[in-house]
Amino acid sequence: MIKLPINYHEPLPAAFYPASAPLPFSRADFGADFHWGAAAAAYQTEGAWQHQGKGPSIWDDFTRRKGTIRRNEHGRVAADFYNRYETDLDLARGLGLTDFRFSAAWSRVLPEGLGAVNRRGLDYYDRLVDACLERDLRPWLTLYHWDLPSALQARGGWTNRSIVGWFSDYAQIMARRLGDRVQHWAVLNEPMVFVGAGHLLGVHAPGRRHLGAFLAAAHHATLAQAEGGRALRALLPDSAQIGTTFSCSHLTPHRPGNRNDEAATRRADALLNRFFVEPTLGLGYPVAELPALRWLLERYLKPGDDQRMKFSFDFWGVQNYTREVVKFSPWLPLQWATLVPAKQRGVPHTDMGWEVFPESIYHMLKQFAAYPNAPRLLVTESGSAFPDVVQDGRVPDPARRAYLQAAIGQVLRAQQEGIDVGGYFAWSLTDNFEWAEGYGPRFGLIHVDYETQERIVKDSGRWYQQFLGGTAVASEPERAAAERV
Ligand code: FCB
Repeated sequence: MIKLPINYHEPLPAAFYPASAPLPFSRADFGADFHWGAAAAAYQTEGAWQHQGKGPSIWDDFTRRKGTIRRNEHGRVAADFYNRYETDLDLARGLGLTDFRFSAAWSRVLPEGLGAVNRRGLDYYDRLVDACLERDLRPWLTLYHWDLPSALQARGGWTNRSIVGWFSDYAQIMARRLGDRVQHWAVLNEPMVFVGAGHLLGVHAPGRRHLGAFLAAAHHATLAQAEGGRALRALLPDSAQIGTTFSCSHLTPHRPGNRNDEAATRRADALLNRFFVEPTLGLGYPVAELPALRWLLERYLKPGDDQRMKFSFDFWGVQNYTREVVKFSPWLPLQWATLVPAKQRGVPHTDMGWEVFPESIYHMLKQFAAYPNAPRLLVTESGSAFPDVVQDGRVPDPARRAYLQAAIGQVLRAQQEGIDVGGYFAWSLTDNFEWAEGYGPRFGLIHVDYETQERIVKDSGRWYQQFLGGTAVASEPERAAAERV
């Protein structure tokens, strides 16, 4: 076992590694089959919001409402990935990635969410898959990364139980068209975020703030998660690796040993880390820690649902950015829990206000792997947003690079303790539209100038490329300069 150089029990200083520090591990330590990727999502990158028959999605609608998004930004152009995917996949290949994770926009394929297929939309994903394969990048297709067709929202969206069937129909269309080439499927992206931020907190589309809507959407997402898995497996019984992804954060009590804070931490863990995971294993919802879920059971659970919520996934995608510190809150009606913001705690944090705490990923891999019958784990998102400055055609981003190195080190730490973790996907390949935060926070390994759509591989991306042994990647200004000579 190798020794990692940092005390991983302390928050990581923003720019930990000096440029020359050799890492105490290499790619080979992870095994030859390890998947090395970067991830992206349709609404955040594609743009082309009305192009070639695409129907509107709830994010097209939500971003039109004043005051929902910083600076009233929207994803109508985004990183123009719809038109520039070949350039971006070339860069991904140049970085030495073996895998690329992206999502399909449901309303590009089915403008009404159901019924008639938009051929041109489906053709686009067909071309995208081929473009990945031509570059030896394995495509990982996420079916749902939050952009529900508006036409389905008009019918109640996730609060309408019919969505389970609508989603299954959409999954089957994708499997029939792409299943001969796509081997890796993720059913949902982070249900707790689109259900919670979208239906309880109101800060994501569709912008609802309603406990009933949250509970209904949560249960239907749980059912769709399993049903989507079954639809894919029925059509692709031999070839497909079927997974789904979960948001998660390692949680620590504000005052360790304090009974109230410890109990609040357990409740937060049930909500943020266990809620969508346990029903897939047949463990049901964590009702003991979250008594309010009794309403969900009374109102929305139908006979047979306990079975319907189960699905034996081939992998779980673990998505982690930070840890949370949890404090008992006597003031909320449920005497619940509050998360103490990193800024308030005075610890290093990213542009999202998230504490820089890469060891969170290690703890979450351990926590998920501890379930009996847990499938193989992959880190399908991990990354950090820091302000970037372009200097002479380069983007020096030591803090992001340090985060990336440390997160990868933490994955190795888990793997060396026997956890079956098979891949690491950096979020994100390029800068993109960060939901309610607009274009402010930049997560990319590749910088995007949103005025010109020029791409520059950041120093973090260059480091990843060296680590992976990819071919050298030049920035667009460097390439242009070379052509001029
Ligand atoms: C995750 C989302 C992803 C991205 C990152 C920063 O929760 O899945 O789309 O926004 O956060």
